[in-house]
Amino acid sequence: MEVDLIQIKNLKTYFFQGKGLLSKWFGQGFKIVHAVDGVSLAIKKGRTFGLVGESGCGKSTLGNTIFRLVEPLEGEVLFQGQDVVKMNQKELREFRQKAQIIFQDQFGCMNPRMTVGQIIAEPLMMRQGEPEPQKSIEQEVAELLNAVNLDPDAAVKFPNEFSGGQARRIGVARAIALNPMFIKPGGGLIGHDKHRIQGNGPGHPDAAGLPTWFRLCDTHK
Ligand SMILES: Nc1ncnc2c1ncn2[C@@H]1O[C@H](COP(=O)(O)OP(=O)(O)OP(=O)(O)O)[C@@H](O)[C@H]1O
Ligand SMILES: [Mg+2]
Repeated sequence: MEVDLIQIKNLKTYFFQGKGLLSKWFGQGFKIVHAVDGVSLAIKKGRTFGLVGESGCGKSTLGNTIFRLVEPLEGEVLFQGQDVVKMNQKELREFRQKAQIIFQDQFGCMNPRMTVGQIIAEPLMMRQGEPEPQKSIEQEVAELLNAVNLDPDAAVKFPNEFSGGQARRIGVARAIALNPMFIKPGGGLIGHDKHRIQGNGPGHPDAAGLPTWFRLCDTHK
């Protein structure tokens, strides 16, 4: 039977837009944008969920609210039955090991002074609550690079030595390092990449199962 990994119930995220603090205090030139307004949906485990809509309709805001990068006004985001909106800092840290965002602007996300190996190793060194892996971090990094079709030599290079597409794959390698259950890819990750990741990932498919994907596309793409 298919299980819901995420259930969203009556989610509302509003933004207050105005010219400055005075407009907020006195209500002049001040408007409320109902970016997400009463959304309910369910995302099945191991499936890809696509959300399509015109530009500005609230897709990114919905994605950001699921990951609690913005706070909703009301509603629930249940991840394996637990409400993300009510999680404390410790619970959020655990949730963010299981749910990953791949940002479109990878160059903006990567520290230019760190090697690609250090960038990918970072989440591996921060993992908590799991048994110690049998292999070294270097081996894990090499497997992750291989999973996204990059040469293991990439580990000793710096981000500026890669093309945009290669940088995006480095971002994917980092995102899948902790075997996430839920992934929201940024624009530019093509289906081909996704299938390769699912087919060759270094994870443990028997134990964790394939990740669930949450894709956002505007109607002009
Ligand atoms: N941080 C913010 N502060 C104020 N308003 C915002 C903020 N983020 C988004 N909005 C507004 O919320 C609405 C929804 O924006 P959102 O980015 O979610 O749209 P989208 O569907 O992702 O669009 P696109 O397909 O162009 O990426 C827009 O009217 C936008 O101006
Ligand atoms: Mg968007």
